[in-house]
Amino acid sequence: MVHIRVEHLSHRYGEGPLSRLVLDDVNVDADQTRIGVVGHNGSGKSTFVRMLDALIAPTQGRVLVDGIDVAAEPATVRRMTGFLFTDPDSQIIMPTVAEDVAFGLRRSGLTREEISDRVAAMLEHYGLSSHRDHPAHLLSGGQKQLLALASVLITSPRLLIMDEPTTLLDLRNARRFARLVAELDQTVVLATHHLDLLTDFDRVLVFDAGRLVADDAPAPALAHYRSLMD
Ligand SMILES: Nc1ncnc2c1ncn2[C@@H]1O[C@H](COP(=O)(O)OP(=O)(O)OP(=O)(O)O)[C@@H](O)[C@H]1O
Ligand SMILES: [Mg+2]
Repeated sequence: MVHIRVEHLSHRYGEGPLSRLVLDDVNVDADQTRIGVVGHNGSGKSTFVRMLDALIAPTQGRVLVDGIDVAAEPATVRRMTGFLFTDPDSQIIMPTVAEDVAFGLRRSGLTREEISDRVAAMLEHYGLSSHRDHPAHLLSGGQKQLLALASVLITSPRLLIMDEPTTLLDLRNARRFARLVAELDQTVVLATHHLDLLTDFDRVLVFDAGRLVADDAPAPALAHYRSLMD
């Protein structure tokens, strides 16, 4: 379990008269393991979740992950965090499936054999064993996202942040992906438009035009989100 604390977080893209305030004084104190993030297009979800992993530095305020200031110690926080993007193509680093999963262990100090064993177990778990030596770019979209998940989890991050990881998947792969995520031990922060993925979550944050307008259990939070569309 990871403790996430967000204090008076604001973010402005650009400078001067054309600048745009996209997060406005967001405060969160969370020690739950399943946190959903929802909101209309452009409401600030991606900006918010990227800040949890120091991919964007806040204009104001701060983010603490287990008490560590993300902006002050980005490398420390990134070592304990895995980040999954919407587009699995953008996350494939190595030519083959097995090499891609192994990539995260290159500086682990493990022997070649230990790495190979871990990768094999990961591929088995994610149903990719028969694609071990397959060119990673030739997998289907759903397989690529499973590969991305395996490649991120191989280093055992304690916090997994995902920005719309199922948007490009069909319903079956989205469900499969959700089932695999549900069984993880890590703390998960999931930004999504697939609201049904959040039913069993502990907590859902609702963003509207850069403001955190609801922070509650899934049912009331999602009801609030739906009411914004009326
Ligand atoms: N690099 C950038 N420079 C300037 N403005 C940006 C940049 N990235 C995002 N924005 C603006 O910030 C606002 C919030 O964007 P963000 O990507 O965080 O929204 P989102 O909730 O993730 O939306 P979506 O559901 O479409 O993914 C939008 O108005 C967007 O135009
Ligand atoms: Mg987004």
